[in-house]
Amino acid sequence: MHGRLEGKVCIITGAARGMGEATARLFASEGANVALGDVMVSEGTSVAEDIGGNAFFQKLDVSDDESWKSFVEVVISKFGTIDVLINNAGLVHFTPIEHFNPDDAEKILGVNTVGPMLGAKHVTPFMKAAQKGSIVNISSVDGLRGCNGLTLYTASKWALRGLTKSLAYELGTSGIRVNSLHPGGVNTPMGNARGLPADQLAHAFCRVPLQRIGEPNEIANASLFLASDEASYITGAELAVDGGWGAGYYQPVLPGAPDGLTP
Ligand SMILES: NC(=O)c1ccc[n+]([C@@H]2O[C@H](COP(=O)([O-])OP(=O)(O)OC[C@H]3O[C@@H](n4cnc5c(N)ncnc54)[C@H](O)[C@@H]3O)[C@@H](O)[C@H]2O)c1
Repeated sequence: MHGRLEGKVCIITGAARGMGEATARLFASEGANVALGDVMVSEGTSVAEDIGGNAFFQKLDVSDDESWKSFVEVVISKFGTIDVLINNAGLVHFTPIEHFNPDDAEKILGVNTVGPMLGAKHVTPFMKAAQKGSIVNISSVDGLRGCNGLTLYTASKWALRGLTKSLAYELGTSGIRVNSLHPGGVNTPMGNARGLPADQLAHAFCRVPLQRIGEPNEIANASLFLASDEASYITGAELAVDGGWGAGYYQPVLPGAPDGLTP
């Protein structure tokens, strides 16, 4: 049976856990050869071993140019080409603006924004040679709107959305598609850092139209579509996978509220 990514070589960053891990597992099950990159070496190695023969793990710090160079060299030596890059590795950061520390900016922007730029830099020569490729940048619902206390994270994820659209123009003539994916809250070590049980999670997500947190596989499924040839005419797009969280806001309907045309 042929999978939706049969024979494609896919790099997934931040693949040691969370939605990167789910993406690596799903892509492999769809016939891809998967290269997992992460700074968490033992976790990443066990995920790749568990996936089996068409997967391998190699240490990658996405914020480091040299680390990308060595990573891509290994991918090419093992698989010979690169079809898909999922720029998933990321760090979250909460702080009121009065406590803003420029060192944090270097770290967060280095991983969340410069990381995907470096990834694109290093895979582009191989994708150009093949005149095809798909790059998916995992931004956030916070790359579509603002949120108090999340200024630095939000800035990093909006930047990634802008980077996506510029790259779509820069690389489209070489057959390379570049899209951004915008998860809402997702049940991962990042999205549920306090390990809240289901009932408390449901309460925390009551403002989301679908009334619940997302699961890593629901994000992986959207990446699968954008990575695959099914999305062959989609580039420069932003896909929200957020249960509707970024779509607007819920207005409480109060007793006596106007119904129909107001005078
Ligand atoms: N979980 C959510 O609610 C949520 C919502 C919106 C967007 N996102 C985004 O989705 C992506 C995945 O998030 P997640 O929830 O799976 O997070 P996670 O913390 O569970 O996993 C992130 C992975 O990235 C890796 N990583 C961190 N710095 C790295 C670096 N310098 N180089 C390589 N790998 C590095 C971590 O080791 C980890 O394995 C992130 O970009 C995140 O910002 C998450």
